[in-house]
Amino acid sequence: MDHFHYRNGELHAESVRVADIATAAGTPCYVYSAATFGDHYDRLAAAFAPLEPLICYSVKSCPNVHICRLLAQRGGGFDVVSGGELHRALAAGGDPARIVFAGVGKTDDEILSGLDAGIGWFNVESEQELENLQRLCESRGRSARAALRVNPDVDPRTHLYTTTGTKETKFGVDIERARRVFDAYGRHRLVRPCGLHLHIGSPVNSVEPYVGAIRKGLALIDELRGAGFEIDTLDIGGGFGAHYRHTEAPLAAEYAEAIVPLLRGRGLRVILEPGRSIAANAGILVTRVLYLKSSGERTFVICDAGMNDLIRPALYEAYHFVWPVRPPPGFVTDDRGEQMVIDGTQVVDVVGPVCESGDFLALNRPMPPLRRGDLLAVFAAGAYGMSMASNYNSRPRPPEVLVGGARFRTIRRRETYADLVAPEMSADGQGGG
Ligand code: LLP
Repeated sequence: MDHFHYRNGELHAESVRVADIATAAGTPCYVYSAATFGDHYDRLAAAFAPLEPLICYSVKSCPNVHICRLLAQRGGGFDVVSGGELHRALAAGGDPARIVFAGVGKTDDEILSGLDAGIGWFNVESEQELENLQRLCESRGRSARAALRVNPDVDPRTHLYTTTGTKETKFGVDIERARRVFDAYGRHRLVRPCGLHLHIGSPVNSVEPYVGAIRKGLALIDELRGAGFEIDTLDIGGGFGAHYRHTEAPLAAEYAEAIVPLLRGRGLRVILEPGRSIAANAGILVTRVLYLKSSGERTFVICDAGMNDLIRPALYEAYHFVWPVRPPPGFVTDDRGEQMVIDGTQVVDVVGPVCESGDFLALNRPMPPLRRGDLLAVFAAGAYGMSMASNYNSRPRPPEVLVGGARFRTIRRRETYADLVAPEMSADGQGGG
């Protein structure tokens, strides 16, 4: 599952003591395991190998260029959703031909930078966007390949905020309209709609929604091919699960077992866009206990990491397992169960320093006795952790440290107070230009 384990009574990232990283980098800090990134990528690649898919790592999940480079070196492409992500993918040495550019609201500048870079596919989400892509291709004298994002109207049974595949979301066009979009825009001389894109939500901890969505996508592809359109690409999106509570996510092999037979021999270039399934279990957030206090019946563990560093608990009530880096004797465990009720634990709320009641990392958690200065690890924080971090409360964002075997290096430094005000200091203060 990952390479974070307790050895000799304390948490290690691969062969490195997490406490040593905290001493070197300070807290809070994100700690990533290169081997875990590699393993999760390799497992997906092996499971889907019969389809020879293009695995486009979803940059939004953990966008650090060093992480992107690690995946590019394994042969991965990239799923980007903004000019900024495209910039990162290229800076990491990504092959433009292996980049898909998705997103409901691409600006002209973003589309042009994709065209100039020569990316593989634009995942187009509306008629107007397709029209705009055609116009921009004409103005640049460039051609492009487009996959139409269709909304298969299946329920991925996940959080409302991360559900995308149901009929009335802002994403894609509904599957009944898709045929009309091809009829209206499918024969342009520069923009060839050559495929479909499906992404139903995230995380999707079962295989059935994929099967339902892919079946619908394939029926549409048959219809489009029958009408003379050359459809050669099916992008099935991302959304594969990760282990937050225990081992709740299906294995890559289990997704593949259901999906591969559907797509084999269909003459399609299959694209996957995994983010969380590669990154989540490859990272932890390390934080230090600042204070302990009781209020009424509740006990609060106040840490130096807050919702600005990791917003998932506040935003989605997401569960992240939290445990001391150096637990007291008797509390050392690699069993990251949801209910770690061991004799001597006390139920606490693990909260951050931000001025919001929603600023928590974990609520109602049985924890070993803690003291000021103890280090805690927030697990499964590699995906949508640092990428959603902010400067709220004018808190500099934490550093990112990458471990490989017995070595570690900082792949993003901690922001400084000067970083916080730099864009303001360089503004002219005149407004409006
Ligand atoms: N492809 C598309 C079109 C997407 O919208 C997404 C994620 C992915 C791929 C990657 O999904 P993944 O494999 O990482 O599940 N902030 C939320 C997750 C938002 C996901 C947005 N789209 C969270 O922290 O859970």
